[in-house]
Amino acid sequence: MADAEDLKRAAAARALTFVTDGMRLGLGTGSTARHFVDLLAARVREGLNVVGVPTSEQTRAQALSLGVPLATLDELPELDLCIDGADEVGPDLALIKGGGGALLREKIVASAAREMVVIADASKHVAMLGRFPLPIEVVDFGVTAITLRLARALNAAGCAGDLVLRRVGGAPFVTDQGNLILDAHLGRIPDPAALARQIEQVAGVVEHGLFLGLARRVILAGPGGIELLERSA
Ligand code: A5P
Repeated sequence: MADAEDLKRAAAARALTFVTDGMRLGLGTGSTARHFVDLLAARVREGLNVVGVPTSEQTRAQALSLGVPLATLDELPELDLCIDGADEVGPDLALIKGGGGALLREKIVASAAREMVVIADASKHVAMLGRFPLPIEVVDFGVTAITLRLARALNAAGCAGDLVLRRVGGAPFVTDQGNLILDAHLGRIPDPAALARQIEQVAGVVEHGLFLGLARRVILAGPGGIELLERSA
């Protein structure tokens, strides 16, 4: 019986079949993306010629240590393919991302790519987004006021739930961009597009973890094998 790491690695291995010589790649963040970078590095050692733009300092360190050639997004502002994990995959390949706190750079890098391919174990596939808390990245000025306005924005989109400041070891979690994260425990998000619009209107919000219309393909690895989901438009 395959364990979760085997499934993540299987999804990552399938994603490698979308990589061709000369590609400029966005490199995602998280435990599934980590497998992809491992496998990509092995191909680079065999002679594959690619350049990666990492979505976090964590991925940058991993890729550097494995000898994957890297560039900044300013050096390579247009990418061929971005490979990343997700916390939830819902209808229309809408995603929740940011469980690892890298959502801002992840969204910028995915938006710069011609195509985003998501890799995940099949347990991430859901009929409705929202069981996984939605990460919202905010500036560190006026967090209490931002939280109040965000609560109203959630209600206006038909959602409700606690907004919890993410902490690590008692201290607020700080993103690679120096911001904070509020995790919205909503349970269900009936209309992700409406929620995204409402959240984006709140001053102080830098980005949120709803990735809508970005993933073109999702590779899901389950006990029964690999499933490839594709979005046409
Ligand atoms: C990082 O901020 C996230 O968006 C990750 O891509 C997401 O949390 C998936 O991570 P795992 O592959 O570790 O589940």
